[in-house]
Amino acid sequence: MKISIVGTGYMGLATGVGFASKKNHVICMDIDKKRLDKIEGGKSPVYETGLQDLLERVVEKKNLEVSSDLDYAVKNSDVSFICVPTPSKRNGSSDLKFIDKVSRNLGSSLAKKDSYHVVVVKSTVPPRTTEKLVIPNLEEFSGKKAGENFGVCMNPEFLREGSALDDFLNPDRIVIGELDKRSGDVLVELYANFNAPIIRTGLKVAEMIKYASNAFLASKISFANEIGNVCKSLGIDVYEVMMGVGLDHRISPHFLRAGVGFGGSCFSKDLKALVNKSKTIGYDPVYLEEALNLNERQPVRIVNLLRKRVGTLRGRNICILGLAFKPNTDDVRDASSIRVVKELLKFGAKIKAHDPKSMDNFKELFPGLLYCKTAREALRDSDACLVLTEWEDFKNLEDKDFSVMKNRIIIEGRKALNPNKVKDFEGVCW
Ligand code: UDX
Repeated sequence: MKISIVGTGYMGLATGVGFASKKNHVICMDIDKKRLDKIEGGKSPVYETGLQDLLERVVEKKNLEVSSDLDYAVKNSDVSFICVPTPSKRNGSSDLKFIDKVSRNLGSSLAKKDSYHVVVVKSTVPPRTTEKLVIPNLEEFSGKKAGENFGVCMNPEFLREGSALDDFLNPDRIVIGELDKRSGDVLVELYANFNAPIIRTGLKVAEMIKYASNAFLASKISFANEIGNVCKSLGIDVYEVMMGVGLDHRISPHFLRAGVGFGGSCFSKDLKALVNKSKTIGYDPVYLEEALNLNERQPVRIVNLLRKRVGTLRGRNICILGLAFKPNTDDVRDASSIRVVKELLKFGAKIKAHDPKSMDNFKELFPGLLYCKTAREALRDSDACLVLTEWEDFKNLEDKDFSVMKNRIIIEGRKALNPNKVKDFEGVCW
């Protein structure tokens, strides 16, 4: 099938490359020409496991091309996926300005096309956005009728950064929210060679499935953190507890890893948007709000623990290992490390940091920290160390690496260190 992808961020690019690898022809469209040049040259603008290799292959095979011309992208494809960001506004609601703009532009492009075309919303949008914003824009700017002259679907993504490509190619399920059967049939055909159950729903159900999934996963982590905080005071390792809990098939062992809190571009953003949406319809979502609040408190907990061990933080050298919001990505958006660093700076600490991939991105937020090429360099002469991302590299650290510290105080915010290689460290909630 011929596909166009509008927006080539992490999600758009992984989706485009994934579809191209399944022998579809993909046009990646973006307004950022520099980004497109990179993609056209077979160079991924983001670090994502496997993406670089597969991108190179699909570009070489001419299964993927780029364009900054939306009319061209629409004219030369059967389906357009909207993959633009939906960031948080200050009040937590979802900022739909990119969705608004792209759906208007897509409407104008549809006006110039005679054959049937399906527009698919892949971006995460609050329930009823496709109905209330996207379709009216498409109809107004195309002068055509949705469900008659063109199709509309809402097809949420469940891609985790760091394994986005694998998640795309091997999904647990594919959700197709459809305006009508004809629109949905096109996506069913597109996904025919994926080995996953397909669920066909209405548009707003598909939008809600995405929010409910992320809200549940985020709450599951906050739940594990809460139990972890209690465990810590009782001298119990919450990881042992969750192993026993997760074996209950009704619960599952996933997303029960306690720690310094969830980060990333989706969980907080989506939870806040759902909270905001609920409030606009007069419902007070206390459970979801508390999952968010608990997440804000975890980074403060690790700094409080540090203060108990170190005493005053003013002028102390604190080493931070791990800045990315999780391993195998250079992304620091909403990372717990940001909250930890802000807290440390508030108490006057000096920070030396190391991360295998994300130091450049972190530097843009905190240019004043000392960034070190190796973990050992960051550890040298430090008064304490906080480990905030469970990178594989850190699992290989040994006692002799920590011997260069001035004071040996090590606290993990994630299960990152190997107890067979490193002695005397504690966890934020274990
Ligand atoms: C998430 C969703 O998983 C994905 O389906 C959605 O489409 C986008 O948002 P992502 O943000 O890439 O994906 O990362 P994920 O692996 O879900 O982890 C998010 C955060 O939760 C990370 O900071 C991670 O360290 C933390 N986490 C995860 C925990 O603290 N404990 C866990 O058990 C799992």
